[in-house]
Amino acid sequence: MKNEQSSNTLLCITGSIAAYKSADLARLFKKNGDNVRILMTDSACEFITPLTMQAISGNSVHRNLLDETAEQAMGHIELAKWADTILIAPCSAETISRLSSGRADDLLGAIVLASKAQIYVAPAMNKNMWSNTATQNNVNSLQSRGIVFIGPSKGEQACGDSGYGRMSEPEEIYETIKMSENKFLNGKKIIITAGPTREQIDPVRFISNNSSGKMGFALAEAASKSGADVTLITGPVSLECSNKILRIDVKTAAEMYVESKKYITDADIFIGCAAVADYSPVIQNQNKIKKSSSKDMQILLKKNIDIIASLSREFPDKKFMGFCAETEKIEEHAKVKLVEKGLDFIVANDVSKKDIGFDSDFNEISVFTKESHTHFHKASKNLLAVQLINMLSKNNQSIH
Ligand SMILES: Cc1cc2nc3c(=O)[nH]c(=O)nc-3n(C[C@H](O)[C@H](O)[C@H](O)COP(=O)(O)O)c2cc1C
Repeated sequence: MKNEQSSNTLLCITGSIAAYKSADLARLFKKNGDNVRILMTDSACEFITPLTMQAISGNSVHRNLLDETAEQAMGHIELAKWADTILIAPCSAETISRLSSGRADDLLGAIVLASKAQIYVAPAMNKNMWSNTATQNNVNSLQSRGIVFIGPSKGEQACGDSGYGRMSEPEEIYETIKMSENKFLNGKKIIITAGPTREQIDPVRFISNNSSGKMGFALAEAASKSGADVTLITGPVSLECSNKILRIDVKTAAEMYVESKKYITDADIFIGCAAVADYSPVIQNQNKIKKSSSKDMQILLKKNIDIIASLSREFPDKKFMGFCAETEKIEEHAKVKLVEKGLDFIVANDVSKKDIGFDSDFNEISVFTKESHTHFHKASKNLLAVQLINMLSKNNQSIH
C-alpha cells in the first residue's frame, strides 16, 4: 500500500563486488521513511545474502520471475506498479546489456519493461568493462529511453585498477535521486561557469591554470537534475555534459564575460565556478615569438575583468554564488570576497591540500553567506555539487 508522504523504492541488486554498499543504500531510503523492497539477481546473492537485505528492508527479497507464491501476492506486474522509483545499484555490465536488449526472462528485466517508474542505474564494474564500446552503446541506448545513470565514479577498484567504474557512494546516489524527485529548481534558469580560461601569448603559448572544470560540470548536472534550465559556460576542458544542458565553449576571460553577460539577463542564479585568469598579456602576438638565445623575455600583463563582481553590480536582482581557491586564511579571505564581489554565497576551498581541489575528484568546502558558515566534509565533487544545489534550492523562496 502506498503511503502519501513516502515513496516506494525498489532497490535491485546485481552481481558486483559493490553489492555490499546496497545495504547502506537501503538504510538511507528507510531512514527517510520510504517503503523499500529488494530485488536480487542470482549473482547478487553470491555477494550479499538475501537475509541481510530482508532484515534491513523489513520485507522479503524478490528473486524469481516464475514464483507461484509471489504471483499471488506481489508478482512482477504488481511490483512494477508499486514502485515509484526503481534503483539498480550496483548494476553489472551484464544487466546493462540485458536491459538494453529489452530482455524479460528474469524478474529484473520483466519489471523494468513493465514499470512506468523512473529508473536509475548506478553501474559498478572494472574500468575496461565500463569504457568498452559494447557497454557504452548499451548505456546510450538506455539513456535514450529515459533511464538515468548515476556514476560510475573514478577511483581505486576492487581488482586493483584505477579509473571510472566504481559505484558512486550510497549517499551520493540517494541525494541525487531525492533531488531529481523533488525538482526544487523547476522553472529556474541557472548560468554556471566552469574550467580555466586560456590567455594567449602567441599562437602556441598561453597562460592558464590547473582547473579541470569537474566541480562546475558536477554543479551543472546537479542543477539540471533538480529541474533547472542550465547554461554551462566553460573554458577549455576535456569533459562531457548531458544534452539537457546548454553548453557554451569559450577560451578567454573576455569571451567568458561576454557570454555570461549575454545569458544572465533572463537567468535567476549565476554560479561562477570557473577559475578565470586574473591577468592576460597586453599584446597577443600574431606570430610565434622567436626564442632569443641571449635575452630573458618579459610579458606585460593587464588585469582582466572580474566577471562575477561586475555581473553582481549590473544585475543586483539575481542570486550569485562564487568560488574562491585559497591556500591560507581561507575564512578571512572568503568573507572579504563575499562582500567585495557582492555575492550571496561564497564557496571556499583550500587548494593547498593535494588530495582535494583542482584536478581531484574530491573536495572539501566551506560555504559562507553574510549570516552563516556551513562546512562540507571531504566528499566527491558530484556529492558536493548535489549538496550545494540543495542549499541553493532551500533558498528558493528568496529566488524570484
Ligand atoms: C568476484 C567477482 C566480482 C564481480 N564484480 C563485477 C562487477 O563489479 N561488475 C560487473 O559488471 N560484473 C562483475 N562480475 C561479473 C558478474 O557477476 C557476472 O557478469 C554476472 O553474470 C552478473 O549477473 P547479473 O547482472 O544478473 O547479476 C564479478 C564476478 C566476480 C566473480
